[in-house]
Amino acid sequence: MTAQEYSVGSLPAGRKPIVAIDGPAGAGKSTIARHLALRFGLLNLETGAMYRAFALKALRMHLALDEVAALDELTEQTVIRLEAGDAENRVLIDGEDVTGLIRNPAVTDAASRVSVFPSIRAWMVRLQQQMGAAGGVVMEGRDIGTVVFPQAEVKIFLDAAPEVRGMRRFDQMGPSPSVQPDEVIRDLRARDERDRNRADSPLKPAPDAVFLDSTHMTLGEAAQAAEAIVASRLETLAAQ
Ligand code: DC
Repeated sequence: MTAQEYSVGSLPAGRKPIVAIDGPAGAGKSTIARHLALRFGLLNLETGAMYRAFALKALRMHLALDEVAALDELTEQTVIRLEAGDAENRVLIDGEDVTGLIRNPAVTDAASRVSVFPSIRAWMVRLQQQMGAAGGVVMEGRDIGTVVFPQAEVKIFLDAAPEVRGMRRFDQMGPSPSVQPDEVIRDLRARDERDRNRADSPLKPAPDAVFLDSTHMTLGEAAQAAEAIVASRLETLAAQ
């Protein structure tokens, strides 16, 4: 099967689809979103990178991450750009490419803290809606199917047991990580807790999302399963 077989031009009114991928850390969102983007000829936009870039800027400015007034002020002086790439997104903050600086534990923790504030989220959601307005995107995050694009043509909620997600993260850390697997799993549980229990846009499946649990799958198998979900949904839409 090729991307052409699921001609995105055959959707109602010639619309290109929006594929929303949500789920907790380590569920395989990035790998799967990348696969779907290549497979269906869509742009892959990773919204977590935007929260991470903003958190990096807040850390650099030594802002208290629980003082929303200062963070709000910072949003007014910040331009975030996300560019789709083949392997990963490039994220630019005020024109500076910070792609290589946003995956460390300090930024990971800070991103999870700044993302609890409704005003920060509203700002991010507006940017994300602008980026995906024309369709033709796979957008991954925590609230894409529920808040950013509730009208997305395809919604997938990915999950896996915390131990499996933690081990995936650990394995991605390279040959001699400075942390133990149980620390990674503990941090991931703490982030899960914050993401799932925040008052504004908590991480949860949209009512019409397809649930995909990759606990007993490799990421390759999960990507194939996600591809089948998208293909079937696009076929249904094209036939309507
Ligand atoms: O997906 P990620 O691990 O790169 O996301 C970093 C943090 O950003 C994560 O703790 C939750 C937050 N986030 C969010 O609240 N909403 C999104 N759409 C994407 C990420």
